[in-house]
Amino acid sequence: MNISIIVHSQTGNTLSVAQKLKTRLEETGHFVSLSHIKDIDSKDTSNQQPGTIFLGDELPEKSDVLVLAGWVQAFSLCQGFSSFLNNWSTIKAHQTHVFVTHHFPYAWMGGNNAVSQIKSILSNQNITVSSSKVFNWSNKNNPKQIDLWVDETVKRIEGK
Ligand SMILES: Cc1cc2nc3c(=O)[nH]c(=O)nc-3n(C[C@H](O)[C@H](O)[C@H](O)COP(=O)(O)O)c2cc1C
Repeated sequence: MNISIIVHSQTGNTLSVAQKLKTRLEETGHFVSLSHIKDIDSKDTSNQQPGTIFLGDELPEKSDVLVLAGWVQAFSLCQGFSSFLNNWSTIKAHQTHVFVTHHFPYAWMGGNNAVSQIKSILSNQNITVSSSKVFNWSNKNNPKQIDLWVDETVKRIEGK
């Protein structure tokens, strides 16, 4: 399957989860693109959209499966990803999976809110979210939860 992961990540946490998923999916024979969006900083002049730089693979035009991920900024979805999702050329895939990362140990401390924001933006574009997950970076079980989620997501994508 063609699988596109689009991730907004500033310090690398969200990107690291996306990279784990990409590696596992490629091991099972899928074609995976990983597009990395980042807010521009004052030293970088390569912006293609005000305030944003695009790294990694080009944004896909179509895909069987989409995975969208961002991080929590002030108890909400980070502004860069919110702005991206509100303005992108919508891609309708067969499945759309979502995850966010945040610092706090429990999902109700901002992560759930950010996921709701993504779902709401996507719902306005007639995109239904197949699964969602919050990674609580300061929770001691976070590394295990990432591994478990990667396993589960590969199975979901493959319909197992
Ligand atoms: C400006 C700013 C605001 C943040 N606000 C929150 C917050 O409200 N709640 C939280 O749990 N983490 C917050 N964080 C932490 C990030 O959500 C967390 O480190 C996340 O994993 C960063 O993802 P990234 O490494 O992919 O950029 C904030 C970080 C920054 C830089």
